[in-house]
Amino acid sequence: MRGSLTGFLTDRFSDGGQVSGPAVEVAARAPANLALVKYWGKRDPALNLPAVGSISVTLANLFSEVRVSRAGRGDDELQVNGQCPPPEVTAKFRQFFDLVRLTAKEHEALRVNVTTNFPIAAGLASSASTFAALAVALNALFGLHLDLGQLSQLARRGSGSAARSLFGGFVEWLQGEAPDGSDSVAQPIVPPEHWPLAIVIAVTKPTPKKWASSVAMTVTQSSPFFPAWLASHADDLRVARQAILDRDLRALGEVAEHSALKMHALMMAAKPAVLYWEPATVAVIQRVQALREAGIAAFVSIDAGPQVKILCSQEDRERTVAAVSGISGVQVLRSQPGPGPEILEITP
Ligand code: DP6
Repeated sequence: MRGSLTGFLTDRFSDGGQVSGPAVEVAARAPANLALVKYWGKRDPALNLPAVGSISVTLANLFSEVRVSRAGRGDDELQVNGQCPPPEVTAKFRQFFDLVRLTAKEHEALRVNVTTNFPIAAGLASSASTFAALAVALNALFGLHLDLGQLSQLARRGSGSAARSLFGGFVEWLQGEAPDGSDSVAQPIVPPEHWPLAIVIAVTKPTPKKWASSVAMTVTQSSPFFPAWLASHADDLRVARQAILDRDLRALGEVAEHSALKMHALMMAAKPAVLYWEPATVAVIQRVQALREAGIAAFVSIDAGPQVKILCSQEDRERTVAAVSGISGVQVLRSQPGPGPEILEITP
């Protein structure tokens, strides 16, 4: 059985649904996303609740695929891109599996295989696509019947940004106020067809980064600029929401670039300082500034890593690619707003 997630959930809830109970093996795929107004800061690290809301665009062509099955007694078996991850990464996955088992009242170990079609742990949202795909797959494996909003809350516990990868197109993850996180849920703003803008990804360094984002996020909340980050965030969200509805590239690009640079500035001003940028990161930013001076509407965004994502129109895409691909060591990926997760296969 294969189909879109929404279709799959509808099937399961309807009387005529073909899959009525837990499955033996499930394969699912979920996309990466690019935060346009960033999530940075946690108000509750244990529940992984954000200090701010965030808005993202789901990326076409960049995804994680997971295959999950029951492994009886014993330990969970995990492979990521054909390898056993380092202990701190394995621990993060195991914590997530324990949470799902607790929710499902299940005790069996899991066999989990994750593959990504882009570099992992490099600031390209591999944890977002991976935990979103796992939430979808484990929901089906254990017959949990969670809806997309509930799945976004589950995925959030694996990695905050994963909450947004449950939907296609432009997505908002609400900060919420409830101490238990029940109102901190992601929701779609508009589907991908609403605005097929171009997203050019300049990979400056594909190897894993020095600081995991969750560590950097906690450390840099002591930055003297963190209060200013919090105070200016609601305005950024409001501007971005409107710019998306209006398909206004300049308005969205300006606020996205501002949000990204503000986030990195607060990290650089923290003690200890966190600096994710490489020389090529700065070179790409400068090329994009030069493009703007030449009249091209192109804007940068940078997540917790050295890679630069550039927003521009489809019309200006190849000129933008040409402007950055000449920088030494830079590899370019092309993306655009894409669809949400998909169930690839269910073995009942
Ligand atoms: C810069 O979602 O990786 O990409 O919740 O601790 O797993 P954890 O953090 P994570 O952080 C993402 C930070 C960001 C901004 C964003 O995606 O909004």
